[in-house]
Amino acid sequence: MRMLAILLGGLFSVMALAKPVPLDDVSRQEIAERIAPVGSVCKEGEDCAANVGAVAAAPSEPRSGETVFNKFCTACHTSGLLGAPKKGDTAEWTKRASAIGGYSKLLQQAYAGIGSMPPKGTCMNCSEEEFGNAMLYMGAVK
Ligand code: HEC
Repeated sequence: MRMLAILLGGLFSVMALAKPVPLDDVSRQEIAERIAPVGSVCKEGEDCAANVGAVAAAPSEPRSGETVFNKFCTACHTSGLLGAPKKGDTAEWTKRASAIGGYSKLLQQAYAGIGSMPPKGTCMNCSEEEFGNAMLYMGAVK
């Protein structure tokens, strides 16, 4: 117990002696750099975006239904995998659209994901318009 008291006493006197070290501007700057977040967001139009290049730029035109379909939808919608309505089966597309109340409702439901189909039919960067283009390409009617 006595030992503990001595230890604690020692500790407190060390703490009392320790003064906060004043930071000059240089070390402040260094610390800010060290603890800066790893990444930063660069928005289009800001100076930092000047060097981003074409890779990060959003596609200027919406992709065609054919492009989207061939890349993302064909895997299921060509063969009818997992019960997917097939490309070209206009009757089935029309039936689905009227069952839910029209093309836009069908788009919304499918875009959110339905049954075995993941959201956006796996085209994670598809806008609703691009997704719709692929629907039309597969036989849905607006
Ligand atoms: C992993 C397989 C798979 C992929 C990839 C896929 N789909 Fe589907 N899709 C399905 C299945 C399965 C259904 C039927 C779901 C149901 O009726 O439960 C379906 C249904 C749909 C429907 C009708 C939804 C409804 O409410 O009846 C639309 C529209 C659709 N897909 C669009 C697309 C588009 C556009 C793409 C590509 C961007 C795509 N799908 C990619 C499996 C897929």
